[in-house]
Amino acid sequence: MTSSELENLRKGALEELSKIESLSELEGFKVKFLGKKGVITQKLKSLKSLPLEEKRQVGSFLNRLKEELLRGIQNKEKELLFKEEDRDLGIDLTLPGRKRAIGAIHPLNVVINELCEIFGRLGFSIATGPEVETEYYNFTALNIPDWHPARDMQATFYLKNGAILRTHTSPIQIRTMLKKKPPLRIVAPGKVYRYDADVRHSPMFHQIEGLMVDKRVSFADLKGILTYFAQETFGEGTRVRFRPSYFPFTEPSVEMDIGCVICGGKGCRVCSHTGWLEILGAGMVHPEVFKAAGYDPSEWQGFAFGMGIERIAMIKYGIDDIRLFFENHRNFLQSFK
Ligand code: DAH
Repeated sequence: MTSSELENLRKGALEELSKIESLSELEGFKVKFLGKKGVITQKLKSLKSLPLEEKRQVGSFLNRLKEELLRGIQNKEKELLFKEEDRDLGIDLTLPGRKRAIGAIHPLNVVINELCEIFGRLGFSIATGPEVETEYYNFTALNIPDWHPARDMQATFYLKNGAILRTHTSPIQIRTMLKKKPPLRIVAPGKVYRYDADVRHSPMFHQIEGLMVDKRVSFADLKGILTYFAQETFGEGTRVRFRPSYFPFTEPSVEMDIGCVICGGKGCRVCSHTGWLEILGAGMVHPEVFKAAGYDPSEWQGFAFGMGIERIAMIKYGIDDIRLFFENHRNFLQSFK
């Protein structure tokens, strides 16, 4: 083939391409020139029979032409897609799509779900109660009378109508017992409110309450179940310790610590060089609480516990500022996917 023949082949093909006006025509063009039996394909095959020098020249020309046609076909395809389908809409389908940010479950809900699941395995079901409470359920029924100093400790928000925002999830204990007959096992997650704000305190935060009542529930059950919870939540090797404490609604009362997850117990800034992190309050349900809930304290026994969800999440994920949970910055939230 002479070089003018080759040049004519190229011109002809390019001209044909430029006149194409539909995708189906374009497909036909592709087959005609580049298909298995296409013009260029055939010519490339027949190179074998040519003398070496000609083979080189013609071969390289045909290969360049093939590239050129492929690029031309691609461009034409874009142009036609835009023209044929979207002229009216003014959308260019060949532009890359916009990525939608997919939401993530809020870290506090991740922790709440996990804790409910862990206690669920032990037969605890989920209970809830109102965030706007009465002083009676929030304090009095929990053995915190008017004069009790614990009322001041809890920096209560009072509403105009005399109601309050619950300062803890413990009133759910009373509400649940008034509704259900024993035995029972519940966990109750929810929002609570206290007049307090800094890096460690938010005026609204979350707690989860636990309550187990049966004929023979002992302090050993409390320790066993809370130890299981700690090891499921923070890892199998997690050590726990129980310190005597005081809550009006339990007797005896304890606080549970876990070995510091940051320093492993050696002592660091996070655990104030004690090697331990306080996790929750707990105790055996006070007979006065049973009486307020209509349970006979000579027949029923139980233990209760309560903990702050933000604190658990901060320890679990190494977060040092509680406000991050409520500012809802995308990067923070997305990191919990
Ligand atoms: N309600 C307590 C608080 O907010 C936490 C608590 C301690 C709950 C001991 C309990 C308990 O059920 O037994 O500080």
